[in-house]
Amino acid sequence: MNKLLAILAVISNISSSVNAGMGLYSNCGTPNQNSNSLDCKGCGTTSAAIGFFVVSPSPNCKVRDCTVDPGDNLNGWMCVSCSQSVTPVTAYGIGKKFLQGNACTNACSNGYVVDYNYICQPVQGADVPCGTANQAGGNASSCNGCGTTRIQNYFQPSAANNCKVINCFNYPSYLNSWMCKSCYGNPVAHQIYQQGQFFNGSVCVASCPIDQVPDQNNVCQPILGADVGCGTTNQAGGQATDCQGCGANSTIQALFKVSATPSCDVIDCTANPGANLNGWMCKSCNGNPVANAVYSAGKLFSVNTCVATCPVGYSADINNICQLIPVPGADVACGTAGTTGGKATDCKGCGTNATIQALFTPSATPNCEVIDCTANPGANLNGWMCKSCNGVTKAHTAYAAGKFFSVTACVASCSNDQSADSNNICQANSIRSPYASSNLLTLAFTMLLLFLIN
Ligand SMILES: *[C@@H]1O[C@H](CO)[C@@H](O)[C@H](O)[C@H]1NC(C)=O
Ligand SMILES: *[C@@H]1O[C@H](CO)[C@@H](O)[C@H](O)[C@H]1NC(C)=O
Ligand SMILES: *[C@@H]1O[C@H](CO)[C@@H](O)[C@H](O)[C@H]1NC(C)=O
Ligand SMILES: *[C@@H]1O[C@H](CO)[C@@H](O)[C@H](O)[C@H]1NC(C)=O
Repeated sequence: MNKLLAILAVISNISSSVNAGMGLYSNCGTPNQNSNSLDCKGCGTTSAAIGFFVVSPSPNCKVRDCTVDPGDNLNGWMCVSCSQSVTPVTAYGIGKKFLQGNACTNACSNGYVVDYNYICQPVQGADVPCGTANQAGGNASSCNGCGTTRIQNYFQPSAANNCKVINCFNYPSYLNSWMCKSCYGNPVAHQIYQQGQFFNGSVCVASCPIDQVPDQNNVCQPILGADVGCGTTNQAGGQATDCQGCGANSTIQALFKVSATPSCDVIDCTANPGANLNGWMCKSCNGNPVANAVYSAGKLFSVNTCVATCPVGYSADINNICQLIPVPGADVACGTAGTTGGKATDCKGCGTNATIQALFTPSATPNCEVIDCTANPGANLNGWMCKSCNGVTKAHTAYAAGKFFSVTACVASCSNDQSADSNNICQANSIRSPYASSNLLTLAFTMLLLFLIN
């Protein structure tokens, strides 16, 4: 502002001691206490242009000779310096203080305002992509995406899906991120736009507050994730006491911070969690407009990525992780009978140890069923499991062969010299009932008896 006042002072204090050739003082010199300016480096962007000036009382410089045509070097400082010269070349001109395009002029044309370099600058902002593209091509069909109705009125459509602020020079009664972005960098923009291209919710800022980053719309957004209920409840109320429920190890848990009980939040959703990604992180960061791309797909976790919905046959567990939906087996009578009509009281008859028994759940009395026939039973495979899971759709291949168990595998039927026992296990006939099952022995015994009688 001080500089502008100084310029205005220079413009109005038009010196009376102007000789025919020399330009007026222009305060584009490098200040020098109580003397002529040190140099005129502020009077042009090229050394050729600067070379047209000579130093005068600090901080001024002036055009050495307004009767010399500056050609392509013409700039705003030259226009103002020579504007009151009595015999300027055509390139200058009496009273023509401002540079518009490549000519000096008395006044900037409509939609232009003079900047600190005496150059007429357009007041409109830069293109920002908040417009609605016109299907027929050309300029955007509306600026509806640029803000509230009042703010939309500050914009005009531009090419493709772009709009721009019509007048960045004026003080705006309303402000948003698109306005900051469109007007920032315009040399005649109102001071309100000079701070930066991002919007912190109330003013344009050069950078977002700590723990915030700009989204695609230049709005500063918190990097913090949303509250998710994986924290440990604080009995006294207030914040959760820790986030130990949020991940399988302390490295993952440390990516969270406590929030209202029993919640925790991911501390920085912009960071790529790599192999630490889990269901709680997907849930906390999905939907955050500045979240890392790994979170964009959804709030659930499947295999190693976030997903919107679990694959067919899977459902989300309490940790937001997609788990295979268990496929139960058929009822098999290895449970301990419960009350009539109720379920079996336990499945202790379904396996030789507790590990195997735990693979079953009571169903109708005295039945139990394998909880999940899709799981590989490994060495726990037994006759009851074969019987429960054989024939079940999607059952593990271990169950494919049949409903009986022989040695280590399910089989459709026991071999000729075997019979299934009450646990559906194929047992050798000789072991089970040596006499009854040996016709040959019976025949020999009968013959002996007949021999004795005779
Ligand atoms: C397209 O937008 C530009 C920039 O806003 C404007 O100057 C031009 O007049 C527009 N063209 C039409 C055909 O409206
Ligand atoms: C925005 O920035 C201004 C200026 O630094 C500050 O006074 C204001 O509190 C900030 N607003 C927010 C919401 O951060
Ligand atoms: C924590 O768990 C993740 C996911 O299983 C793993 O990638 C990571 O190496 C583990 N970190 C530590 C320190 O154990
Ligand atoms: C349970 O029995 C199975 C089959 O014999 C065996 O492989 C497994 O190791 C046993 N588990 C335990 C915990 O004893």
